[in-house]
Amino acid sequence: MSSSDSPLTILNTLIFPLKFIFLSLTYLPRALLLTFPSSLSTLQSAWFSLFWSHVGPLVRESASPSVIPLLSGLITRGSLKPTPVHPAISGTVLELGPGSGQWTSTLSRFSSNITKILGVEPNTGIHPLLRSQIKKNNLEDKYTIVPCGVEDLASSGKVEKESVDSIMTVLCLCSIPEPQKNIKELYTYLKPGGRWYVYEHVKQGPEAPRWLAIYQSVLNLIWPHFIGGCEMCRDTPKWLKEAGPWGDIDLSRPEKSVWYETMPNVIGVLTK
Ligand SMILES: C[S@@+](CC[C@H](N)C(=O)[O-])C[C@H]1O[C@@H](n2cnc3c(N)ncnc32)[C@H](O)[C@@H]1O
Repeated sequence: MSSSDSPLTILNTLIFPLKFIFLSLTYLPRALLLTFPSSLSTLQSAWFSLFWSHVGPLVRESASPSVIPLLSGLITRGSLKPTPVHPAISGTVLELGPGSGQWTSTLSRFSSNITKILGVEPNTGIHPLLRSQIKKNNLEDKYTIVPCGVEDLASSGKVEKESVDSIMTVLCLCSIPEPQKNIKELYTYLKPGGRWYVYEHVKQGPEAPRWLAIYQSVLNLIWPHFIGGCEMCRDTPKWLKEAGPWGDIDLSRPEKSVWYETMPNVIGVLTK
């Protein structure tokens, strides 16, 4: 970890979640205008769709240097290797929470090794954006949108247990309900030998300064209300490791992490 960053960089990183909340707020009036007098859940769905249509591409830009090598199998113990350490994403792929389809262009790079993609996305308000990305990236004959949350996947009957070669979760395990239970449930969809590609933001680890962990918990009191239910303080690595028996767990903080991150990430591949 670097300790040479300027106070301004540190300050900017610390206030980043507040700026993000403010940015999200600016989309609320338009969402209200579009959905009034519909239900609160319709408003929340429209608000997140509007917000993510703007923010999604920015998030992709900053996460691409991590996510593209991850899906290529080039990441191990949080660092980039010149040759693959894991197989690239392939076979039947379950993409959880694809949102506006920011990773469809990346998935299309692996198209020749992908049989089909099931995009489990409950926010129907964002489906038109997702569909346009699927079309733009020539994935129409491979990509199926499953219009439900992970918690309803079993009852939807759309995905068989032990039928999935690759699960992909990019910045979405923070948003699902009952994460511990639903991560366990997702594990059951993987074939033996199947791989789970993970890039998520998580709660501060024991190495973080105490004040930073407290700051993250305080931010988390308001954050989910503005960012589509996203939670900042989830122990996702623990729940992933405990989801079931794994053949191999290669999940770490990215090599270039800095100590003052308010939203530390984990990255890696778990193999069943
Ligand atoms: C922060 S966004 C990330 C979207 C996308 N993965 C990306 O990187 O741009 C989180 C996504 O998880 C989705 N989500 C929320 N609840 C979910 C659930 N119960 N099951 C599956 N996805 C869910 C949201 O609708 C949203 O699209």
